[in-house]
Amino acid sequence: MATATTNASLNDSAQQPYSALRIWARLMRYILRYRLWVLVAFAGIVGTNILAIAVPYILRDVVDIGLEAQDSGYMFNAGLLVVGLGVLRGATAFMGRYFGERLSHVVAYDIRNQIYDKVQRQSFSYHDSAQVGTIITRAISDVNEIQRYFAFGLMDGLNTSLLLIGVVTMMMLTSPPLALFALLPLLPLALYSRGFVLRVHPRWKKVMERMQSLSNHIQENALGAEVVRVFAREQYEIETFHDQNKKLYDEQLDFITQWINFLPASALLASMSTALVLLAGGILEAQGIGNITVGLIVTFNAYVLLLVQPLRFVGFIILLTTQAIASGERVFQVLDEEERIVNKPGAKAMQIQGHVRFEQVSARYDSSAGDVLRGINLEARPGELVAIIGLTGAGKTTIANLVPRFYDVSGGRVTIDGIDVREINLHSLRSQIGVVMQQSLLFSATIEENIAYGKADASQAQIIAAAKAADAHGFISEFPDGYQTVVGERGTTLSGGQKQRIAIARALLIDPKILILDDSTSSVDTQTEHKIQRALEAIMQGRTTFVIAQRMSSILNADQILVLRDGEIVQRGKHESLLAEGGLYAEIYRLQLQEQERVRREAIISGVIKVPLEYRRSTAKFRKLIDRLAGKYSP
Ligand SMILES: Nc1ncnc2c1ncn2[C@@H]1O[C@H](COP(=O)(O)OP(=O)(O)OP(=O)(O)O)[C@@H](O)[C@H]1O
Ligand SMILES: [Mg+2]
Repeated sequence: MATATTNASLNDSAQQPYSALRIWARLMRYILRYRLWVLVAFAGIVGTNILAIAVPYILRDVVDIGLEAQDSGYMFNAGLLVVGLGVLRGATAFMGRYFGERLSHVVAYDIRNQIYDKVQRQSFSYHDSAQVGTIITRAISDVNEIQRYFAFGLMDGLNTSLLLIGVVTMMMLTSPPLALFALLPLLPLALYSRGFVLRVHPRWKKVMERMQSLSNHIQENALGAEVVRVFAREQYEIETFHDQNKKLYDEQLDFITQWINFLPASALLASMSTALVLLAGGILEAQGIGNITVGLIVTFNAYVLLLVQPLRFVGFIILLTTQAIASGERVFQVLDEEERIVNKPGAKAMQIQGHVRFEQVSARYDSSAGDVLRGINLEARPGELVAIIGLTGAGKTTIANLVPRFYDVSGGRVTIDGIDVREINLHSLRSQIGVVMQQSLLFSATIEENIAYGKADASQAQIIAAAKAADAHGFISEFPDGYQTVVGERGTTLSGGQKQRIAIARALLIDPKILILDDSTSSVDTQTEHKIQRALEAIMQGRTTFVIAQRMSSILNADQILVLRDGEIVQRGKHESLLAEGGLYAEIYRLQLQEQERVRREAIISGVIKVPLEYRRSTAKFRKLIDRLAGKYSP
């Protein structure tokens, strides 16, 4: 259950030719849809910075004019002005932060919806290889990173840049020589930051990949809890998880260390700025060079202090940007994944009659070495019952999957009423085909909602009628909550047979023209199977039905039986003629179906099913068998 399987397109992010700049630009496109908010946030940030830069400027005159002249009125007014600017700055800061946050959340909302829609539209073949944990990590954690970037990285990045530009401009305007000294230490910071990006980016990618494989692990183990218990592998699973979790922890630490190292380095450089301003300013003022006043030095110092906080932020901003680009890449991989089964332009909706033909059909899966179906020809006329039998892995389910176009053929064509299924609108096609899959999945919702899944507007009466037809009404009514009973995740609170009957009811409710039952009675007992069988016979009327069956009774009445071996139809015909013909059919009949007949007779004997008249008039030999079994099974 370890997460060993990988999927080339989803897991190997390194292979994708995404450049950092392109990813960033593509992320930016998301906020451009909200131009007004961007504008307000931007105005807020610009305003905040102008106001911040204004204060040191006032300070200069306070020192040089107010202090020098001992003018208390001037000082008071200057104080009022500073307070006023502070209040104004609070308002602009709020504007910037509020709309910045809002933008970030609406972007996350949009991306998450996009991912969900994309995954919904993906074909079976995508889901064959994509791991659930991978999709979840990308839709949740990666999108969170992107959101954080827009809320802090982008906004604070903008803030820092504006402040830097503003402060540098003001410094240059007031005293170029002092500005040079103050800004000198920023040069190494720029170089240092570049190195930081290069170190941090790969580490962050590793962290996210580890997170993804951990979530795959948890998800697989939650789904496969029974298997783990059956084989008593808990200890092994716990150890593997701890091992992986420890690796995540180490990688996180390694990553964080890089970032923590950056902090004191940038703080040190900032304080060097202060020292240089004081030192150079003092010397220059003493020498009377360049019109340096005490007020100017105070102002410069205030400017440097203004820069310290955002400069310390540079590391954080770089970090967020790097993370967002790594996460953006992973999200875009999901969004850019090719959709295989899509509506052709001009694909039309149509009323299906149910005439299904396979013409020289071959099929293959991505991971299969060659074709798993070859040269399949079949014709099912409206209302016919076609049974497909064959040993496991012969390709029965694959044939069934081609009719609703869960996969596309690799050769030949499948037609319905003479039209290639690839030319039919997907929604129209699938909403007229009822499928009961080999492993039916139910949602964690009420039984009623599960049955009505394909037809949300179904009436109570219709739901009950479908349940009755699938012989599910009885057991549903016995639950205290009846149709309102909530079934667990994947229907876990129901037995296999109950789940299947609900799945049958669900398929019947849409009143499909074509019905596909893939081993749909395999996990019910003989008695129930009998009941479902009788119910199905009525249901099949007027529908083209494909039955993939392991059990005899389902196929005795079939209009045609197709016998599949290794992806080819080796025999076809009706029960009697096939039995007489010998070959694989007779063999399967002997091996599996006769065995089931025996079970059925046992059931008859134990009184579960009334012995039909024709059995009672049976031969002496059969009577002897009954006697023997009766002796064996009666208490
Ligand atoms: N999603 C898939 N990806 C790759 N190969 C697959 C996939 N599904 C089936 N196969 C392969 O295709 C072949 C036919 O499988 P299929 O499921 O059609 O058999 P089946 O006759 O329905 O068997 P069973 O009676 O066990 O249900 C098998 O060799 C199987 O390994
Ligand atoms: Mg199958």
